[in-house]
Amino acid sequence: MDAPDDETMQRLVDAARAVRLNAYAPYSRFAVGAALLDAQGRVHAGANVENAAYPQGWCAETSALAAMVAAGGRRVRAVVVVGAGLRPLTPCGGCRQKLREFATDDCPVWSADEHGITARHTLGALLPAAFGPDHLQENTP
Ligand code: THU
Repeated sequence: MDAPDDETMQRLVDAARAVRLNAYAPYSRFAVGAALLDAQGRVHAGANVENAAYPQGWCAETSALAAMVAAGGRRVRAVVVVGAGLRPLTPCGGCRQKLREFATDDCPVWSADEHGITARHTLGALLPAAFGPDHLQENTP
C-alpha cells in the first residue's frame, strides 16, 4: 500500500493539532491529538480524555479509533499523533496494539508538535512481530 501523499499527511497533522486543543488532560497536563486516515480517505480525530480515577483515562489514538469505527471505518491507512515535549511523541504500547487491529505494518505513524513533523515511523517498526487478527484467523476451525 502506497503511503499517502504529503498533502494528505498534512491534513492529518492539521486535524490532530486542532483536536488536541480540546484534549481533557487536567491531571497529566499532557494534551495529545491523534488523526487517522481511513480507507475511504476520511480523517478521524480524537484527543486524550483523563478522569479522577487516573487509570481509567484513555489516549488520543483510542479516541480517534473509536470515532473511525463509529463512522463505519475499518482500515487505518496513516496515523499522526501530536503532542509537545522534548522528544517525539509516539503511541503508547497499548495504542500500538489497538492500531494494529486496523492497520498493516507499512502504515505510516508520524509524530508532530506545534512546529512540525518530529518523527516518521511505520507501525511495523513500532510494533515488530505483532500479534494481530491474522493469528486468530489461522486458528479458527
Ligand atoms: N497519551 C496519549 O493520548 N497518547 C499517547 O500516545 C501517549 C500518551 C496520553 C495519555 C495521558 O492522558 C497523557 O497522554 C499522559 O500519559
